[in-house]
Amino acid sequence: PTHITKVCCIGAGYVGGPTCAVIADRCPHIKVTIVDISVERIRLWNEGPLPIYEPGLEEVVGRCRGRNLFFTTDVTRAIEEAELIFVSVNTPTKTSGLGAGMAADLKYIEAATRMIVDASTSNKIIVEKSTVPCRTAQSILTILENNCRPNVCFQVLSNPEFLAEGTAIADLQAPDRILIGGMNSPAGKDAQEALVKIYSNWVPRKRIITTNLWSSELSKLAANAMLAQRISSVNALSALCEATGADIDEVATAVGWDTRIGPNFLKAGVGFGGSCFHKDILNLVYLCESLNLPEVAHYWKQVVDLNEYQKTRFVRKIISNLFHTVSNKRIAILGFAFKKNTGDTRETPALTVVDCLLAEDAQLSIYDPVVSHEQMLEDISSLRRPNGTSNITLNTDVYEACKEADALVVCTEWDQFKTLDYKRIYQSMRKPAFIFDGRLILDPIELRQIGFSVEIIGKSQPITSAWK
Ligand code: NAI
Repeated sequence: PTHITKVCCIGAGYVGGPTCAVIADRCPHIKVTIVDISVERIRLWNEGPLPIYEPGLEEVVGRCRGRNLFFTTDVTRAIEEAELIFVSVNTPTKTSGLGAGMAADLKYIEAATRMIVDASTSNKIIVEKSTVPCRTAQSILTILENNCRPNVCFQVLSNPEFLAEGTAIADLQAPDRILIGGMNSPAGKDAQEALVKIYSNWVPRKRIITTNLWSSELSKLAANAMLAQRISSVNALSALCEATGADIDEVATAVGWDTRIGPNFLKAGVGFGGSCFHKDILNLVYLCESLNLPEVAHYWKQVVDLNEYQKTRFVRKIISNLFHTVSNKRIAILGFAFKKNTGDTRETPALTVVDCLLAEDAQLSIYDPVVSHEQMLEDISSLRRPNGTSNITLNTDVYEACKEADALVVCTEWDQFKTLDYKRIYQSMRKPAFIFDGRLILDPIELRQIGFSVEIIGKSQPITSAWK
């Protein structure tokens, strides 16, 4: 197979950056150049602070940058010299036109494809890293074939990324599996083998799966749909737990011991967020609808619907416990990122909570250890509430955020929230002092002893009995 010595990655985001930094780290013999159209993003990758927060990323970039890892906006040159090109551009949900709110917007994929074909004077292997609808490789190939210079050939591979934000570096260094889809021709197999060889530098061969293109593209959507489905299933059960007195953590543990089910990814909470689950499931639903499979579409749509239900259910719980009014009450929002160990706020459930509470005229103080205040303001402004962000205070000190609050609402499972001085916080709050734990990380017994009124998703109040 082709021996790859130069790799280019288009898109220096949450996927392109960490993925290709790890490739550079593990393959010192390969020159890796990451390009982006965003001048600011490239500047930050080069000069710091890194544009994304991910544990372990700084060390990896620090080891390779300037050695065999480069960040540049000179897209043309990087494409021209590369033998293999990852396409890691964003594929957000379309906001208007056909399939608005459901289908993936492929304009960035197409633009990247056209940039590639324009700049290519030699054969290239194009690797879809972005999550795309099934059969996108065909569109890419058609654009390439119709615009390429004479004697320039392309192969298209699908190599979806399964990393999870917050643990991206660990996931990339020891992936559960690497999936590489390719065409079933000699040249296709050759291209597949060239990419297998890159990953083989650190991934055991048995964990590298090769399939046809469409299986690979669909597997990414399927994996995200099934992961999100687990969360929606456990969240649906959490509502049942609250109504019956069962405890969702106990139920999830008991269920997860079944080896067919397994213990991971069964944590109830305020709802899933992140840039991928929501958009990829809707993308899958749209695909099913366009292929005239309404029952299948309906099945997967429920996963998203249940997630919306879970978020608003949590807010309803907050409001009803606060005596059915939060007007002018001060509520501290603990955590704004969509999960711990990331600064990413895309589709964060915290924003839904903020939105609903602002609609009820609450005063919010928000604290997150990583998300920048600019990012929070941008997200909250996008809600277009009549009062804008005037009912919001952003805090850099968690104790300050909790001061004089009527309630604390845990929206992100940051470890530091488990070990706060809750006695001190309780003393600084208005009484009765409430805690709503949307991530099931706090110890209700300890908090109730301090004096808090504690509400946790999937758990009802303890059984009361005269016999202690
Ligand atoms: P992102 O928005 O962080 O990064 C995409 C980057 O591509 C941006 O910096 C943008 O400026 C750049 N870009 C867009 N068009 C370009 C062009 N023509 N030339 C050069 N640069 C261009 O997005 P993220 O999160 O990295 O996601 C990328 C893809 O990976 C998406 O399809 C996503 O669904 C998928 N994915 C994301 C995961 C995640 O955890 N964020 C995990 C697995 C897959």
